[in-house]
Amino acid sequence: MSENALYRMKSNHLAELPGVGIRTKLLDIAATLDDVIAMGRGDPDLDTPKHIIEAGQKALETGKTHYTHVRGTIELRKAIAEKMKRDNNLDYDPENEIMVTVGAEMAMFLACYAIINPGDEVIVPTPRYTSYDEAITMWGGKIVEAKVTPDDDFAYKPEEIRKCITKKTKAISIVNPGNPIGLIDADTIREIAKIAVEHDLIVISDEIYENIIFDGTKHLSVAAIPGMKERTITLNGPSKSYAMTGWRVGFLAAPAPICEMLTEPSHTIAICCPAVSQAAALAAYTGSQDCVREMRKIYDERRTFMSQALHDMGLSYVKPRAGFYLFTDVASLGMTPDEFCLRLLKEEKVLIFPGALFADPTNRFVRISMLAPTDRIKLAAERMKRFVKKVRS
Ligand SMILES: Cc1ncc(COP(=O)(O)O)c(C=O)c1O
Repeated sequence: MSENALYRMKSNHLAELPGVGIRTKLLDIAATLDDVIAMGRGDPDLDTPKHIIEAGQKALETGKTHYTHVRGTIELRKAIAEKMKRDNNLDYDPENEIMVTVGAEMAMFLACYAIINPGDEVIVPTPRYTSYDEAITMWGGKIVEAKVTPDDDFAYKPEEIRKCITKKTKAISIVNPGNPIGLIDADTIREIAKIAVEHDLIVISDEIYENIIFDGTKHLSVAAIPGMKERTITLNGPSKSYAMTGWRVGFLAAPAPICEMLTEPSHTIAICCPAVSQAAALAAYTGSQDCVREMRKIYDERRTFMSQALHDMGLSYVKPRAGFYLFTDVASLGMTPDEFCLRLLKEEKVLIFPGALFADPTNRFVRISMLAPTDRIKLAAERMKRFVKKVRS
């Protein structure tokens, strides 16, 4: 490959992300096996609700096959503004403060484009969603990891965030609720807001898992805390809440000048989010929210089942209070997370990802994603149980 002219002349921006090598290896092996239970990716197995699909179909049949406004159709932006009022206690002007993007991923890319200069530091509590690393480093930003420990389920510690602050700190980036670690307590969100105000920092807050939250816990948007709206870029979208990952819709909500400045770059990257997907997202946000509650119930049952199964295997895990994932400690089995995932795949055909993909600072954890049909998850638990027993004996 190094002989290849394009490879020799590639830019310096392109760097290997944490854990990508092992992920590719696992996926390559999985592709050669039959009957693999895939519990690696964060892609809901549930179908997009029928009324949303029908809205997409109707959009195609009625000529919604063209470019839309760069920042999204005004109907969708209005629906997002109403959703933010209803769910997040936030007032956004749909004309000027909301941008529809191609997934939350593009929203993160734009958020970083808007705020990061070379040398700027972004504090990111870790383990983290490393897919966002590139959006930060691409513009010369530096990721600064705030320390956490597995002893208290990797809870974000405001004092550790404070310790990371230097003259170069520009922003704190959070995923709330998180991936691979679920819930961030509301008090911690309030503390993060306090730090941001005290040190004049921006907060980028990904809230894509806001509805995947259990035990009656209420989600708190950092922008809704007094003094925060003006310094927060909120990222969100229907991918997880409505099982719409493949439709590729997301959005960011931010102060008007930021949205205005990002309009042209957004046009350059994608022109707009596909019109058909925007019509489907409109149905998601304006239609009945029963589907969100029904899906949450299914995810809740899966997390209860899998938590018990891991407990029975004698494995400890971060208490899953939100999100789709069980971040599970496999160190007691005397193998690294990479080895665990490779052997589990080869010997029992269950695909999960090692914590390295999420910059696990302990090198002890694997991430189990509960996004396969429930009967397959039950079968995966049986296979894991057998594997763990074999390793222990
Ligand atoms: C924290 C987080 N943000 C964003 C995304 C991707 O969102 P979208 O499908 O809207 O691009 C994921 C996908 O796993 C995620 O875990």
